[in-house]
Amino acid sequence: MATSSTTDRTTGEVRVNGQVRHLDLDSRVTLLDMLRDHLGLTGTKKGCDQGACGACTVRLDGRPVVSCLVLAAQCDGREVSTVEGLASGGRLHPLQDAFVRHDGFQCGFCTPGQLMSATALLEERPAPSADEIREAMSGNLCRCGAYPGIVAAIRDVAERNGNAR
Ligand code: FES
Ligand code: FES
Repeated sequence: MATSSTTDRTTGEVRVNGQVRHLDLDSRVTLLDMLRDHLGLTGTKKGCDQGACGACTVRLDGRPVVSCLVLAAQCDGREVSTVEGLASGGRLHPLQDAFVRHDGFQCGFCTPGQLMSATALLEERPAPSADEIREAMSGNLCRCGAYPGIVAAIRDVAERNGNAR
């Protein structure tokens, strides 16, 4: 991504949910604001804007990151996955479906970030224990206290994949 010190702008390309997006942004724009304000992907939520709540979690090259602490300029040539990319062909992702069935959300504000952390967890660790799930999800705060449903949903998907333990 090119940066101009005279204009303080960065340009580059980011692949978002499999689609290449060309960017020309103020170099101070965060990944979170790029997604919401410049690409219109408002599924990713802004909670604290300080890295504390996890609501803004997306996956950057597969790894969960809090997008309010990442600059768009750091994403040049990289792959970003957001909640909008989970469903496909009109069908919910299995984790989205499990969150619904297990009442894993109430207000739903934290849910996109929870889903992105959970998809990353199950890819990295297909058979997580309840404690491992809680540990992996500890950066995602839910003010509604939907944690039991969230853990149950993640365990359900692991079990359906034949990976329960
Ligand atoms: S909005 Fe990014 S961690 Fe809270
Ligand atoms: S469902 Fe409301 S903050 Fe999590």
